[in-house]
Amino acid sequence: ATYTIGYFVGSLSSTSINRTLSTALIALAPEELEFTEIPIRNLPLYNPDFDADFPPAGRTLKEAIDSSDGILFVSPEYNRSIPGALKNAIDWGSRPWGSNSFARKPTGIIGASPGGIGTAVMQSSMRSVLSFLDAPQLNSPEAYIHFDAAAYGPNGEVTDESTRSFLRHYMEEYSAFVQRVLTANAPGHI
Ligand code: FNR
Repeated sequence: ATYTIGYFVGSLSSTSINRTLSTALIALAPEELEFTEIPIRNLPLYNPDFDADFPPAGRTLKEAIDSSDGILFVSPEYNRSIPGALKNAIDWGSRPWGSNSFARKPTGIIGASPGGIGTAVMQSSMRSVLSFLDAPQLNSPEAYIHFDAAAYGPNGEVTDESTRSFLRHYMEEYSAFVQRVLTANAPGHI
């Protein structure tokens, strides 16, 4: 079987290290996973006034989440929290009230920073948000990536062996987690 994974890159930067990380993760993922990026760049700022008639950008985002078996967030940490562009996209996906697209979706959270804590505080914020949205999260392994540019080639290939095996292990565990949650969500399963 194959499983469709919608992934968010939480950075709009043209030189994003998290985009590099996302490319590396996709290349190292088990072959049963298929990845589609869910773009956040062109979303307006969410406003409840849109709930009565969601604009196309909001509908497209929700359909992309709804049609994914699992969601992966690859994001920087901004000022010890979630970048605004990503939080805005999550707010869009959570609404209108009563149609939260993240409910019961298996999620993974990973991120890279040049600093030592490797997005740990952003990930902690994300866990609160995703818990409120009833999205199951891969709890272990955690992945706080201290980004060393020398470990990545131009197309996201990982040249450092220990980084490569860690990222591969993360994606194997993420895949197994997605499959467990889908089984648990299946009709008739308690
Ligand atoms: C940062 N950066 C940062 N790094 C970190 O480890 N913790 C933080 O709280 C912040 N805060 C922060 C705020 C803002 C507004 C910017 C622009 C940057 C540095 C950040 O990790 C670095 O710029 C990364 O390169 C961002 O990831 P992308 O955009 O390259 O994927």
